[in-house]
Amino acid sequence: MMNLSDTARALVAPGKGILAADESEKSADEKRLTAFGIKTGPEMRRKFRDMLLATPGIEEYLTGVILHEETLSQKGNDGELFPRLLAAKGITPGIKVDQGLEPLAESPSETITKGLLGLPERLTAYHTDYATGFTKWRAAITIDGDRLPTARALVENAKRLATYACEVQKAGMVPLLEPEVLLDGAHGRLRARAVIESVMRVLFDTLNEQCADLSGIIIKTSMAVSGNKSGRQDTPEEVAEDTLGALMETVPAEVAGIVFLSGGQTPDQATANLAAITKLARERNAPWPLTFSYARALQEEALMIWKGEDENVPAAREAFLARLEKVAAATS
Ligand code: 13P
Repeated sequence: MMNLSDTARALVAPGKGILAADESEKSADEKRLTAFGIKTGPEMRRKFRDMLLATPGIEEYLTGVILHEETLSQKGNDGELFPRLLAAKGITPGIKVDQGLEPLAESPSETITKGLLGLPERLTAYHTDYATGFTKWRAAITIDGDRLPTARALVENAKRLATYACEVQKAGMVPLLEPEVLLDGAHGRLRARAVIESVMRVLFDTLNEQCADLSGIIIKTSMAVSGNKSGRQDTPEEVAEDTLGALMETVPAEVAGIVFLSGGQTPDQATANLAAITKLARERNAPWPLTFSYARALQEEALMIWKGEDENVPAAREAFLARLEKVAAATS
């Protein structure tokens, strides 16, 4: 029986990473299917998951896949439940357990994440019925000049992330804590860096007051990049300097690992930035393993080719595998 820190370390093993395939029904329909001209609904979502998860050879690049609740009980084309199909390849199935965002009462242009109600019961069911080994909780942090984020948004989101983390560890799984600093906005890279630092400081202050064992948690973070309305394109070296700088200032060495989201970067940007960050991390002896946990940057090229058609599956899988290989290579 592996303990939590062994499970967490295995998820951030060198040269591999985690696929985020945990879009809610609505996000999968709107942002993955409709956005690529594909029909929606449960069967198309199932086919979309099968196109990715049944790709032969993904285990060479993936330690884990984050799933959404609907996918846990769906089956691949081979008739096997998706979590079992992954486990058979040696990939740990994970589950997104938050239930999305709602406006923060004290600052309605910001959000707080829902999902603590009934969480312990859901965790037990996921772990026993589907053998999930890890879980994800996403908070979204908005930047608007110096006005946002408010201290309140950081504190309230950190409290829920910490409560979530403790519950997940009690249930015998690894929590992946994702306070995503959104790319939307006209802010520069240095502002993004400062916000990532504030988010992490508040988060670790809160975690230290609670029961979470830091050696059995994984942090999922944005990179420090200029906002998508800034008109600026940072170089990978700039992104690496400010991303690693922010994390080394704020994330304790005991944390099992740090994974990145792609956040709306193109697949090539997300690959080049990751390569620069991991290179700098080796030069500076960063204390934790760093790798990817991308959704869009891994899926986009495959979705473009697939178009929802069975005959395009082999070509779509080839593109998916090719991107996985590049992203995995960027970590080593
Ligand atoms: P992106 O890589 O598309 O940002 O998604 C990662 C994720 O898990 C967002 O919650």
